[in-house]
Amino acid sequence: MALSESAHGMWSSRLMFILAAAGSAVGLGNIWRFPYVVGDNGGGAFVIVYLLCIFLVGIPIMSSEILLGRLGRQSPINTMKTVASSSGASPGWQIIGWMGAFVGFMILSFYAVIGGWIIAYVFKLGSGDFSGMDSGFSGSTFADFTGNVWSVVGWHSLFLIITIFITARGVSRGLETAVKYLMPALFVMLAVLVIYAATTSGHFVQGLSFMFSLDFESLSWNSVLLAMGQAFFTLSLGMGAIMAYGAYMPKDTSIIGTATTVALLDTTVALMSGLVIFPLVFANGLEISQGPGLMFVTLPVAFGQMAGGQLFGCVFFILVTVAAITSAISLVEPVVAWIVEKLKTTRVNSALILGGAAWLLGLGSAFSTNIWADVHIFAEMTYLDTMDYVSNNLLLPLGGILIAVFSGWVLDKKMRDSEMINDSAYYPVWQVLTRFVAPLAVFTVFILTFVTA
Ligand code: PHE
Repeated sequence: MALSESAHGMWSSRLMFILAAAGSAVGLGNIWRFPYVVGDNGGGAFVIVYLLCIFLVGIPIMSSEILLGRLGRQSPINTMKTVASSSGASPGWQIIGWMGAFVGFMILSFYAVIGGWIIAYVFKLGSGDFSGMDSGFSGSTFADFTGNVWSVVGWHSLFLIITIFITARGVSRGLETAVKYLMPALFVMLAVLVIYAATTSGHFVQGLSFMFSLDFESLSWNSVLLAMGQAFFTLSLGMGAIMAYGAYMPKDTSIIGTATTVALLDTTVALMSGLVIFPLVFANGLEISQGPGLMFVTLPVAFGQMAGGQLFGCVFFILVTVAAITSAISLVEPVVAWIVEKLKTTRVNSALILGGAAWLLGLGSAFSTNIWADVHIFAEMTYLDTMDYVSNNLLLPLGGILIAVFSGWVLDKKMRDSEMINDSAYYPVWQVLTRFVAPLAVFTVFILTFVTA
């Protein structure tokens, strides 16, 4: 029988769960990664595929993760063990937890590097460096900054220290306050930026049409895979982050409704980021497919030109830092909870062990824009690109298939029905999506990408 509480603590309400899950979902994936992968993959058609993935694959899998977490009430590894055994299924299903822990760790390692870039930009904007500067200046500032191995590693380390510190304090203290006040502030500032881009760039319509025009001709299967990977990454799915958070969710709340709310919030933030960045790209004649540097080159130009931009830009990057940290702690939570269960040690110790290891693994990503810039691991990809590609586009969707198949087909029906009791209206839809649509969609995209590569 399912436990009503987790030993690691509980969210105080449904709203707290939504805030925490949205804190996990909304992060660099929305503000940094979404605009540049859309830019790299030609715009509109990519966005449509991404949105389809969010609704047909993402929301059902997010619901599955919450459902499993709430049934097991432990770290994803032990949750899967318990839930598989009470369904009479093979203990091998624990692989979902193990793989997730591994991928979360991989993602954290490079996430912290980009998070470090963001913190550095808090200071760059705050110091007024960009006042009145053009895109040439901001491009070379970015190249100089990421080209300096010491500063990148320094900021990367700082990002991890903050993440570990907050994780060590526990799930609800710290985290709840951060998401309760700072995430809405981020939302408001993004809205102000959208208005700024709409009224001053003179290229808002061009930005809009880039994001929503339907040119399916130029969309390759690899782009479809990237759109799907982005959907998994941005919703924090496929690696147990949401499962870990689901373990702390109170029992009498609707699962599908909650997952849908989180996904809508996340999608809104991503689309808003696109609506800020693309008009600025066109207005400044910048290269749209310039990859990971896109937001670092475009936003400072806008802040440099707007009245009060020094303060506004600095505050904006502080809020993005917060969004990144609330995501990073959800990357570590599955493993930290597991170490606590397994080694009976404290959260502090387990957070430290994990943070140290992630720091080491992240050095390769920190070097990818400087001393290892010419090291290509796989095709044309640097170490950073490879970590990102493998975790987001391969391992997260693979974890997603397993989660969907387990919760749709293997999980004991009575257990599933009893958790979904508050979801009666959408329960049948969820079943169809989880059993058939989500696993088949991911599988088909995998196959077609590799066949047509
Ligand atoms: N969803 C987070 C973001 O968009 C990243 C993340 C991925 C967090 C996977 C947890 C798990 O930035």
